[in-house]
Amino acid sequence: MKKVLILNGPNLNMLGLREPEVYGDRTLDDIKGLCRETAQALDMAVDFRQSNHEGELVDWIQAARGVFDGLIINAAAYTHTSVAIHDALKCLDVPIIEVHLSNPKEREEFRHISYIEPLAAEVYAGHGAKGYVLGLEKLKELL
Ligand code: DQA
Repeated sequence: MKKVLILNGPNLNMLGLREPEVYGDRTLDDIKGLCRETAQALDMAVDFRQSNHEGELVDWIQAARGVFDGLIINAAAYTHTSVAIHDALKCLDVPIIEVHLSNPKEREEFRHISYIEPLAAEVYAGHGAKGYVLGLEKLKELL
Protein backbone atom coordinates (compact mmCIF):
# COMPACT_ATOMS: atom_id res chain seq x y z
CA MET A 1 0.00 0.00 0.00
CA LYS A 2 1.39 3.41 -1.01
CA LYS A 3 2.00 5.83 1.86
CA VAL A 4 1.31 9.54 1.49
CA LEU A 5 2.42 12.31 3.85
CA ILE A 6 0.08 15.32 3.96
CA LEU A 7 1.66 18.43 5.46
CA ASN A 8 -0.14 21.61 6.45
CA GLY A 9 1.60 24.85 7.38
CA PRO A 10 0.92 27.77 9.72
CA ASN A 11 -2.55 28.92 10.73
CA LEU A 12 -4.30 26.01 9.00
CA ASN A 13 -5.11 24.74 12.51
CA MET A 14 -7.43 27.78 12.67
CA LEU A 15 -9.60 26.66 9.74
CA GLY A 16 -13.28 26.97 10.55
CA LEU A 17 -12.62 30.14 12.54
CA ARG A 18 -10.17 31.77 10.15
CA GLU A 19 -11.59 33.99 7.37
CA PRO A 20 -14.38 31.58 6.41
CA GLU A 21 -15.23 33.78 3.41
CA VAL A 22 -11.78 32.87 2.02
CA TYR A 23 -11.14 29.38 3.39
CA GLY A 24 -14.63 27.98 3.94
CA ASP A 25 -16.08 26.65 7.18
CA ARG A 26 -14.49 23.21 7.29
CA THR A 27 -12.01 22.61 10.10
CA LEU A 28 -8.63 20.96 9.58
CA ASP A 29 -10.06 17.91 11.36
CA ASP A 30 -12.84 17.76 8.73
CA ILE A 31 -10.19 17.86 5.98
CA LYS A 32 -8.19 15.16 7.75
CA GLY A 33 -11.33 12.97 7.82
CA LEU A 34 -11.94 13.63 4.12
CA CYS A 35 -8.33 12.66 3.31
CA ARG A 36 -8.60 9.46 5.37
CA GLU A 37 -11.85 8.45 3.60
CA THR A 38 -10.40 9.24 0.17
CA ALA A 39 -7.18 7.37 0.88
CA GLN A 40 -9.11 4.33 2.08
CA ALA A 41 -11.18 4.29 -1.11
CA LEU A 42 -7.96 4.55 -3.16
CA ASP A 43 -6.22 1.86 -1.08
CA MET A 44 -3.57 4.27 0.16
CA ALA A 45 -2.36 5.17 3.66
CA VAL A 46 -2.12 8.78 4.81
CA ASP A 47 -0.29 10.54 7.60
CA PHE A 48 -1.87 14.00 8.05
CA ARG A 49 0.05 16.66 10.00
CA GLN A 50 0.04 20.41 10.70
CA SER A 51 2.69 22.70 12.13
CA ASN A 52 3.05 26.43 12.67
CA HIS A 53 6.85 26.01 12.65
CA GLU A 54 8.96 26.15 9.51
CA GLY A 55 11.76 24.03 11.03
CA GLU A 56 9.34 21.30 12.06
CA LEU A 57 7.98 21.12 8.51
CA VAL A 58 11.60 20.89 7.22
CA ASP A 59 12.32 18.08 9.73
CA TRP A 60 9.22 16.17 8.61
CA ILE A 61 10.14 16.55 4.93
CA GLN A 62 13.68 15.30 5.59
CA ALA A 63 12.39 12.33 7.59
CA ALA A 64 9.95 11.41 4.79
CA ARG A 65 12.84 10.12 2.64
CA GLY A 66 12.48 6.38 2.14
CA VAL A 67 9.30 6.26 4.28
CA PHE A 68 6.60 7.87 2.11
CA ASP A 69 5.79 7.35 -1.57
CA GLY A 70 4.28 10.79 -2.16
CA LEU A 71 3.76 14.16 -0.49
CA ILE A 72 0.87 16.60 -0.48
CA ILE A 73 1.75 19.99 0.96
CA ASN A 74 -0.24 23.08 1.79
CA ALA A 75 2.65 25.14 3.15
CA ALA A 76 0.23 28.07 3.74
CA ALA A 77 2.15 31.35 4.18
CA TYR A 78 5.53 29.54 3.95
CA THR A 79 4.64 28.80 0.32
CA HIS A 80 5.49 32.39 -0.47
CA THR A 81 8.58 32.80 1.72
CA SER A 82 10.38 29.56 2.51
CA VAL A 83 13.59 28.75 0.68
CA ALA A 84 14.21 26.26 3.53
CA ILE A 85 11.09 24.25 2.63
CA HIS A 86 11.97 24.51 -1.08
CA ASP A 87 15.46 23.12 -0.38
CA ALA A 88 14.11 20.30 1.82
CA LEU A 89 11.60 19.31 -0.89
CA LYS A 90 14.45 19.18 -3.42
CA CYS A 91 16.00 16.30 -1.44
CA LEU A 92 12.81 14.28 -1.72
CA ASP A 93 12.60 11.98 -4.72
CA VAL A 94 8.84 11.30 -4.60
CA PRO A 95 6.02 13.18 -6.36
CA ILE A 96 5.00 16.40 -4.61
CA ILE A 97 1.53 17.91 -4.93
CA GLU A 98 0.94 21.53 -3.88
CA VAL A 99 -2.51 22.31 -2.50
CA HIS A 100 -4.21 25.56 -1.46
CA LEU A 101 -7.80 26.01 -0.36
CA SER A 102 -7.95 29.47 -1.94
CA ASN A 103 -6.25 30.53 -5.16
CA PRO A 104 -3.25 32.61 -4.04
CA LYS A 105 -2.63 33.82 -7.62
CA GLU A 106 -5.97 35.66 -7.50
CA ARG A 107 -5.21 37.31 -4.16
CA GLU A 108 -2.64 39.87 -2.93
CA GLU A 109 0.54 40.15 -4.98
CA PHE A 110 2.71 38.82 -2.14
CA ARG A 111 0.91 35.47 -2.54
CA HIS A 112 1.70 35.16 -6.24
CA ILE A 113 5.15 33.62 -5.74
CA SER A 114 5.32 29.97 -4.74
CA TYR A 115 8.60 28.35 -3.71
CA ILE A 116 6.84 24.96 -3.91
CA GLU A 117 5.45 25.21 -7.43
CA PRO A 118 8.73 24.58 -9.35
CA LEU A 119 9.02 21.23 -7.53
CA ALA A 120 5.38 20.17 -7.72
CA ALA A 121 4.05 17.54 -10.10
CA GLU A 122 0.68 19.31 -9.86
CA VAL A 123 -0.89 22.30 -8.11
CA TYR A 124 -4.53 22.38 -6.94
CA ALA A 125 -5.55 25.86 -5.81
CA GLY A 126 -8.97 27.36 -5.28
CA HIS A 127 -10.88 24.06 -4.97
CA GLY A 128 -11.30 24.27 -1.18
CA ALA A 129 -10.94 20.96 0.68
CA LYS A 130 -11.49 19.11 -2.59
CA GLY A 131 -7.93 20.09 -3.58
CA TYR A 132 -6.65 17.46 -1.13
CA VAL A 133 -8.90 14.82 -2.74
CA LEU A 134 -7.64 15.82 -6.19
CA GLY A 135 -4.07 15.59 -4.87
CA LEU A 136 -4.60 12.05 -3.56
CA GLU A 137 -6.23 10.99 -6.84
CA LYS A 138 -3.28 12.44 -8.76
CA LEU A 139 -0.79 10.58 -6.57
CA LYS A 140 -2.75 7.34 -7.10
CA GLU A 141 -2.33 7.89 -10.84
CA LEU A 142 1.39 8.76 -10.57
CA LEU A 143 2.49 6.05 -8.13
C1 DQA B 1 -3.30 29.05 1.69
C2 DQA B 1 -2.98 30.32 0.89
C3 DQA B 1 -1.82 31.07 1.51
O1 DQA B 1 -1.56 32.26 0.77
C4 DQA B 1 -2.14 31.48 2.94
O2 DQA B 1 -1.03 32.10 3.54
C5 DQA B 1 -2.64 30.35 3.75
C6 DQA B 1 -3.53 29.36 3.16
C7 DQA B 1 -4.55 28.33 1.17
O3 DQA B 1 -4.73 27.16 1.50
O4 DQA B 1 -5.38 28.94 0.47
O5 DQA B 1 -2.39 30.29 4.96
O6 DQA B 1 -2.21 28.15 1.55
